[in-house]
Amino acid sequence: MQTSRSSGSYVSHLECSRTGERVEHDRVHGLSASGAPLLVRYDLNRMKADLDRDLICSRTADMWMWRAFLPLDAETQPVSLGETMTPLIPAGGGIMIKDEGRLPTGSFKARGMAVAVSMARHFGKTELAVPTAGNAGAAAAAYGAAAGMNVNVFTPEDTPKVTVQEIVLHGADVYQVPGLIDTCGKIVRAITATETGWHDLSTLAEPYRLEGKKTMGLELAFQFGWSLPDVIYYPTGGGTGFIGMWKAFQELRHLGWIDGKLPRMVSVQTHGCNPIKLAFENGQDDVEEPFSPVTTVVPGVRVPKPLGGRLIIEVLRASEGHACAVSDDEVMRAQAQIAAQQGINLCPEGAACLAAHALDVAAGKTGPEETAIIFNTATGFKWPMPDVKPSAASRALVERYMGQIGR
Ligand SMILES: Cc1ncc(COP(=O)(O)O)c(C=O)c1O
Repeated sequence: MQTSRSSGSYVSHLECSRTGERVEHDRVHGLSASGAPLLVRYDLNRMKADLDRDLICSRTADMWMWRAFLPLDAETQPVSLGETMTPLIPAGGGIMIKDEGRLPTGSFKARGMAVAVSMARHFGKTELAVPTAGNAGAAAAAYGAAAGMNVNVFTPEDTPKVTVQEIVLHGADVYQVPGLIDTCGKIVRAITATETGWHDLSTLAEPYRLEGKKTMGLELAFQFGWSLPDVIYYPTGGGTGFIGMWKAFQELRHLGWIDGKLPRMVSVQTHGCNPIKLAFENGQDDVEEPFSPVTTVVPGVRVPKPLGGRLIIEVLRASEGHACAVSDDEVMRAQAQIAAQQGINLCPEGAACLAAHALDVAAGKTGPEETAIIFNTATGFKWPMPDVKPSAASRALVERYMGQIGR
């Protein structure tokens, strides 16, 4: 029976991902003492005894059906904008597209920010700061607005205009930075170290965005009837979703809700920024040097040295997965092809996963019959679409029929 959650959440403590050091969870934390991400640990034995899977599955199909797996106290009201369960769209062969573009602000960043902003409010924070390739800033701005907080978004100057406009629309302050997200991150770290009260929401620099992203893994397990797909293709920038999904699978396994082989996790990047692939294939345990020069136009993977590099590589090894890189041209071709042939509008990051899957099938790394999840991490609408110039033939046809209808 799912009852005895008297003390609020099932969180037991936070744990340094590098040293295993235990930290109390009842106050605000950034990185651990050794400068590594902190992971939220739960009393899984108590969860196993308490939780009724069927009861959870009978709830409204949204992110909050997983409330027991999240760090919010039972009394804490989540900051929510309607985080629906995202669909799996069959796209031929064994491919299923997990379409995260259906979430508030049009991207999977909503999951992480819903939890991180809820926790920031719980701890009394009112001033948030985030470095972003765009989507995380849009989500922070929206959830911050819903929570009545001030949000400061630091984003590279060349971030797609529509996302910057979205951030401004939600009332956040935007700071456009010459450089990449790592420069934005350094500015945010410097400011949050000096300005009292500012709360740093950078990827993995606080423990709760990861927990929100974890719901992607919980949702997949539910959608596949507790027997997971063969392989997952995920566009990896900071890697929060990649690490979060794997964490979800471990927790579910501990509860005995899933068993058997877990999916192979494939980290997808582009040739113009693939630090994970290089580190993994060189047998390194972490990304040691920032990738340079970053030339890719795919915003979500423009992260030269992810803070969670070590954790991403651990997941690649533990899942017997691999890292794949595609060219920007392959991304654009995959995006155009699936839009025109199947009616599916992928973001470039999702299209990168589709292109990576095609390469892997051709190379025999993924079987054509295997069930493969392609993560479409955002809606394609946020990406500048092709300019449309009417052809001479189309103009002539319109003119002819304008005449015929007497206009
Ligand atoms: C659309 C999209 N896909 C993928 C990513 C990378 O996400 P993660 O940090 O979880 O690796 C981002 C991050 O900016 C993004 O906006």
